[in-house]
Amino acid sequence: MRLSLPRIIPALKNGAILFRGKPLTINKSLHNHSTVVLGGKPHIFSKAHLYCSPTFTQVKGLHQNHYNMSSTQGKPITCTAAVAYAAGKPLTVEQIVVDPPKAHEVRIKIEYTAVCHTDAYTLSGIDPEGAFPSILGHEGSGIVESVGEGVTNVKVGDHVIALYTAECGKCKFCKSGKTNLCGSVRATQGKGVMPDGTSRFHNQKGEPLLHFMGCSTFSQYTVVADVSVVAVDPKAPLDSISLLGCGVTTGYGAAIKTANVQKGDTVAVFGAGTVGLSVVQGAKSRGASKIIVVDINNDKKQWSFDFGATDFVNPKEDLKEGETIVQKLIEMTDGGLEYTFDCTGNVKVMRDALEACHKGWGESIIIGVAGAGEEISTRPFQLVTGRVWKGSAFGGIKGRSEMGGLIEDYQNGKLKVDEFITHRRPFTEINDAFEDLHHGDCLRTVLDLAK
Ligand SMILES: NC(=O)c1ccc[n+]([C@@H]2O[C@H](COP(=O)([O-])OP(=O)(O)OC[C@H]3O[C@@H](n4cnc5c(N)ncnc54)[C@H](O)[C@@H]3O)[C@@H](O)[C@H]2O)c1
Ligand SMILES: [Zn+2]
Ligand SMILES: [Zn+2]
Repeated sequence: MRLSLPRIIPALKNGAILFRGKPLTINKSLHNHSTVVLGGKPHIFSKAHLYCSPTFTQVKGLHQNHYNMSSTQGKPITCTAAVAYAAGKPLTVEQIVVDPPKAHEVRIKIEYTAVCHTDAYTLSGIDPEGAFPSILGHEGSGIVESVGEGVTNVKVGDHVIALYTAECGKCKFCKSGKTNLCGSVRATQGKGVMPDGTSRFHNQKGEPLLHFMGCSTFSQYTVVADVSVVAVDPKAPLDSISLLGCGVTTGYGAAIKTANVQKGDTVAVFGAGTVGLSVVQGAKSRGASKIIVVDINNDKKQWSFDFGATDFVNPKEDLKEGETIVQKLIEMTDGGLEYTFDCTGNVKVMRDALEACHKGWGESIIIGVAGAGEEISTRPFQLVTGRVWKGSAFGGIKGRSEMGGLIEDYQNGKLKVDEFITHRRPFTEINDAFEDLHHGDCLRTVLDLAK
């Protein structure tokens, strides 16, 4: 196999080529030859081409990222995907065709994806906006295979995270400085199509397959709008950072951005899944004085403490006769909490979370997604007396401008991410990964698209 040096050098420079898990470094790069440190030894490449020796076959990603990719540019790619043909039915793992990206679109080779509750929610059929057949998945990472005309924010070979909350920087929402919700692709994203109104996916029968949340990570290749993708530090492991595509970012951002928890604040988090535990770590990083986790599953107790909780309350076991969870929390915090977070999606829990807030200033943030048609309620007096009810999508994080900071927090050990990967499976076991979600011992199952 032959790889041209001009193609390889930029990839070496940004660390995209790994040798035994470590990025290769380039010592010297001249016009037509260069010295590359490979496995601790310098190798000199003096011709315009680099030939793959047996040593090089161990260079992860070299072939697929930089050789095959260029050969697929501009052409449809046939690859494996998990298709959701109908609500309530398992996904069908089959070969599909992914068209090349059009203008302002990016085709990504997805390396890893996790399954989030929103995928299960849509697949179950209770999501009123769910449409089929479609390619689900929105928590994923990969490498840019090719880009359409006019794409400037990412380039071939970049390590990227797909963003279900786009950031165009130009719309009313983006320019407001008040929200991370972007209006640029909202209408077409909701309909499961690309911004030009068409799909880039079809099955072997030629039937179009819909996109999902602007990401569709349950496919070895996907096409997204350029506003829905962010390039990240290639040194960050792609399997771990796939989780920054949804759950971890959502919880962490809700604490540090939406609520903006400050040192000394008291916090209660209802629901200790990936989202809730990420709220916990956000609150901890801000120096909250008390972080109380409320969960009905005792298996979440140890995890809660590991992520930074100071207290754990199981409302099914830890309340006195006739005591409510709201009374218990108010008693534990001398009048209520500065911030509470719903990470369950249960509308009764949302009410408890609001009412456990301190009179005058307590704020409750709704993160959980409730069932279709469900409504929240409380006595208006709760708000009249100064409690605030808010919501948060993707943790209030602007994916393109703020993801780099989260990756740094992860790399500096401030943000735990690896700890959420409780299960790993080959992509072909994706239906089992949906099953894993129902078990208390699972935070996230990461699927390897290469398997
Ligand atoms: N707003 C957003 O942008 C966004 C993004 C991602 C996920 N979500 C939503 O956030 C929620 C949490 O996601 P997750 O992945 O952490 O889910 P998860 O199922 O892993 O965790 C939910 C936790 O809540 C606990 N729980 C359930 N009922 C409870 C009750 N009555 N009282 C206390 N605890 C209870 C469960 O035991 C579990 O530990 C889901 O509703 C999900 O759809 C929202
Ligand atoms: Zn999600
Ligand atoms: Zn915008």
